Formats: sequence, C-alpha cells, structure tokens
Amino acid sequence: MKILSIVGARPQFVKLAPVAEALAATTHTHVIVHTGQHYDAAMSDVFFADLRIPAPDVHLAIGSGSHGVQTGTMLAALDPVLDRERPDWVLVYGDTNSTLAGTIAAVKLHLPVAHLEAGLRSFNRAMPEEHNRILTDHAADLLLAPTEVAVKHLAAEGLGERTVLIGDVMTDVCFRVRDAVRDEPPHLPEGLTPGEYVVATIHRAENTDDAGRLGAIVAALAGLPVPVLLLAHPRLRARCQEFGIALDRPGSSLVTAEPLPYPDMVRAVLHSRGVVTDSGGLQKEAFLLGRLCTTLRTETEWVETLDDGWNVLVTDLDRLAGAVERAVPRNPQGTPYGDGHAAEQVVSVLESRRR
Ligand code: UD1
Repeated sequence: MKILSIVGARPQFVKLAPVAEALAATTHTHVIVHTGQHYDAAMSDVFFADLRIPAPDVHLAIGSGSHGVQTGTMLAALDPVLDRERPDWVLVYGDTNSTLAGTIAAVKLHLPVAHLEAGLRSFNRAMPEEHNRILTDHAADLLLAPTEVAVKHLAAEGLGERTVLIGDVMTDVCFRVRDAVRDEPPHLPEGLTPGEYVVATIHRAENTDDAGRLGAIVAALAGLPVPVLLLAHPRLRARCQEFGIALDRPGSSLVTAEPLPYPDMVRAVLHSRGVVTDSGGLQKEAFLLGRLCTTLRTETEWVETLDDGWNVLVTDLDRLAGAVERAVPRNPQGTPYGDGHAAEQVVSVLESRRR
C-alpha cells in the first residue's frame, strides 16, 4: 500500500512524526509531501530533525500569502505530484491551509483521502481553521477522530459512517518525548528559574491582527506577577513590528525568545508553573504534561482540557493574572486523548479500509 502524507505547518510535523514511525515499521510505502507553508528553520527543519521524521520526498516551497493565494498555489502544485504518485491513501493532518489544499487536490483526482484529527469544532466561523476542518471532513473518505467528542460532531453532521475513533497521535509523540527528556533540565534564558515561570505563545489571527488587542495582550503578559517566557511565532513578531508594540521590555515579567524545537518545548512546559496560549496543540500538551493552561480564546476545540479547570478560557485580560495564579486541580486527570498508541491505529485502519 502507498500512503502519501501532505504536511506544511509546524503542528502537522508533530502529528506526522508518530505516523511516519508507525509506517516505517511496515512494508507500506510512505511518501511525504511538504507544501512549504512554514519554511523558517525553527518552524520546520528542526521538527524533522528532532522528531526523526524522514526528509520530505517532495517540497513544494509555496511559502506565505493570503489564504486564497496560499491555498490555490498549493492546489496547483499538488496536482502533478498526486497524479504521478497515485497513492492508495492521501493522508491530511489537522486544519491548516495545507490540509484543505491537499484534500481538494486529492478528491478532484478521485484519490481516497483520510483526515487525521477529524471532527474538531470550535463553532467559531471567523477562524480560518474552522472552515478548513469542516470542508476537509465533508470531502474526505475516512475520518480519523481523536476523541469521543469529535466522533459526536461528525455524527451530527451526517458523517458517522466514515468515522473511526483512533485516539490522538499528539499524545503518542508528547509521551515519547516527555519520557526521553524528563530528567534533563530546560535551557532557559537568563532570569528564569525552573518551576517559577509560565510559557506563553500567541499566534492566532484574532489575537495578533488587531493592534489594540495585541498591544493589550503583550502588556498583560508583561504585567503578570510571574516571569513569562514568550516564544514568539513569526506572525507575532511581524505584527508587533508593524504596530510598534515592543516585545523587549526590560524590567517587566516578559522574556521573549524564538520558537522552541519540540523536545525543548516539552522540557520548558514540564519545568514551568503553567502555560498561557492560543495554540490548540499547546493547550493539550500542557494537559498531557500535567500543567495548568490559560487559553486566550473564546472557545477551544479540546474541550476535555477544561474539565476540573486544567485549562480555562480567558478573553478579559483583567482576569489573566488571577487565572495564572489559580490552584492546581486535586482530582486525578482522565485520559481523554488515548494511551499514546494512536499512530498504530491509524495504520491498521488505513489497511482495513483500503478500497
Ligand atoms: C498556521 C495555521 C494555524 C496553525 C499555525 C501553527 C492556517 C490557516 N493556519 O498559521 O492553524 O496553528 O500555522 O503555527 O493554515 N511566517 C514566517 N515563517 C514561517 C511561517 C510563517 O515568517 O516559516 C510568517 C509569515 O509572515 C506568514 C505568517 O507567519 O505570513 C503566517 O503564516 P501562515 O502559515 O500563513 O499561518 P500561521 O499563522 O503560521
């Protein structure tokens, strides 16, 4: 069987890692296509190296652009690749523009598409990712759902027959890396002490693209009563520069650094007091690593993290400090994201559902 994975953005490389490993243990052929949506070394290359992902077989080098231009350019570039490879499955991941382009290109060529991380919904139609997920789920032939909640969403949209619950492949990689780095101290910028800082990331359009909102978020982080390690996504840096918002604020709580490779991020979270973010993946990683998360969004797709208050949603920035300083829940966590063996499930479902 030939499986062709299409990836392009940072969270997709993380999801690809356990799938590539599980496929490498079989006789199946795995072709990796990188759209080039993310191209900075810190956003792409280090993930392939650290997570031991084979180098992409095809790199489309699409780069940045408006949603339409980026997605359309990917579509045009994917056509000849898919036509040449004619895989048994096209595997798409998550909810980025690379996911949608890969899906549309494949279904137009009548190639079977499997969507990994199907069924997530924020019910916020202002998010580009929400359109990408819904359109992908409705076009794909096989929906690999990470959670029971995702299965319910798909059933409610009439997609139950194409759905299989497989668990969450991000749990596979998170636990594997956690076990490898657990005893290593984190590399922290000067001024930060293990156990006393929070890790912060901000990159979503709703937080970065409005000057007033972004300025208020950076000011709130700088004013927190604990040191903040802000790992700056390129979009955050670009918007701050455009709006004249300083990320370098000596004397404040804020310590700004470059995005971290995956193992360093896991270590940074393991040794933190908690996380402040608008990233979907990091909310869940905080939960899996047993750290409190405060999410700067109006909703989350990973609703299981909200149980018992491991994760809380905050939009009113006056509430941020109180949220960050809340107590750790006493109840033991459940295991809504599976046991860390979802990637093997992906392979066996692709085998059994092959047309
Ligand atoms: C994309 C995904 C988002 C995911 C995020 C993870 C979509 C619609 N969004 O958002 O779901 O959570 O990836 O990071 O697909 N840039 C660089 N270097 C890079 C990549 C981006 O400088 O390697 C800058 C460019 O200015 C670019 C901007 O970041 O215009 C946004 O990048 P883009 O890939 O369009 O979306 P993300 O915000 O990264």
